[in-house]
Amino acid sequence: MRVLGIETSCDETGVALFDTERGLLADALYSQVAMHAEYGGVVPELASRDHTRRLLPLIQQVLDEADLGRHGLDAIAYTAGPGLVGALMVGAATAHGMARALGIPVLGVHHMEGHLLAPMLEQDRPEFPFVALLVSGGHTQLVEVRALGRYTLLGESVDDAAGEAFDKAAKMLGLDYPGGPQVARLAEHGDPGRLRFPRPMTDRPGLDFSFSGLKTHTLTAIRTLEAEGALDDQARADVARAFEEAVVDTLVIKCRRALDQTGLKRLVVAGGVSANTRLRERLERECARRAARAYYPRGRFCTDNGAMIAYVGAQRLLAGERDEQGVMKAVPRWP
Ligand code: KG4
Ligand code: ZN
Repeated sequence: MRVLGIETSCDETGVALFDTERGLLADALYSQVAMHAEYGGVVPELASRDHTRRLLPLIQQVLDEADLGRHGLDAIAYTAGPGLVGALMVGAATAHGMARALGIPVLGVHHMEGHLLAPMLEQDRPEFPFVALLVSGGHTQLVEVRALGRYTLLGESVDDAAGEAFDKAAKMLGLDYPGGPQVARLAEHGDPGRLRFPRPMTDRPGLDFSFSGLKTHTLTAIRTLEAEGALDDQARADVARAFEEAVVDTLVIKCRRALDQTGLKRLVVAGGVSANTRLRERLERECARRAARAYYPRGRFCTDNGAMIAYVGAQRLLAGERDEQGVMKAVPRWP
């Protein structure tokens, strides 16, 4: 089954073609990051408008690259949520329009299920069951994955997501949006011994997270350094380092607990923050210590992309799921 995947939930237009027999045939991405950077964050209306401009040319590019010949497409999958409603509607309307014109099935899928199963696009992919750490700009969750569609939420953030915390810390440090990679880069020059930030919610049992306190802590640290006239480049790097260490440490502690609690030996790490090098290094060490293994999507599939949507869509379409004809789905909040 050849499935076109469309992702437009936020600030990346992603399109890909997944063949259930031959794997990923083509994949294209247009990132709006540069456009939103000027405003320090995603501007929803601009995002929707840019998706409408980019989506059809990207679809054409992917279809040309995949060169399907006479057989053509078998189905279309799109991100139905969660995300920005206007942005979601661009993908949903395009998918439903094309499916109607071609007379093929169409299915709206959950964006986070895409991230969750993105490591399945790799040659060396995990078998079920596994524990997944989903860390993006909108979510921080630990999920027990038994099979496709059999997910148990083990814990999640009670306030900010880890990526959101990275983005806010970046803003406080005067770095551009999106902040995660920039904070990570700055942290490389930081002295790990100079400042120590708290590891929220690690002193009590449970698998939930909280990152909003770290934000306040970061701001206080910056203001104190400023008042002392000590907020130079090195101090900024030290703050970035202390912040990153605190987030990574917190994530690692909870992953360790989740592996212990479930008795599972496979850990999948996905979502934008899974691109973080320090997080990967720490999780590698942690897994090695307990004869477990960590799995990640390749770099470009850590953040939003069409391939993960095509993949999840293909699995669910194969199982017979599809949207009702003409009933497009755009669900901004979808647990
Ligand atoms: O999954 P994603 O592309 O979008 C959604 O939120 O769905 O994740 C984006 C988030 C942003 O908050 C970004 O700052 C963060 O992932 N991020 C990182 C890194 N790369 C991206 N955070 C820390 N370190 C990184 N290297
Ligand atoms: Zn995402």
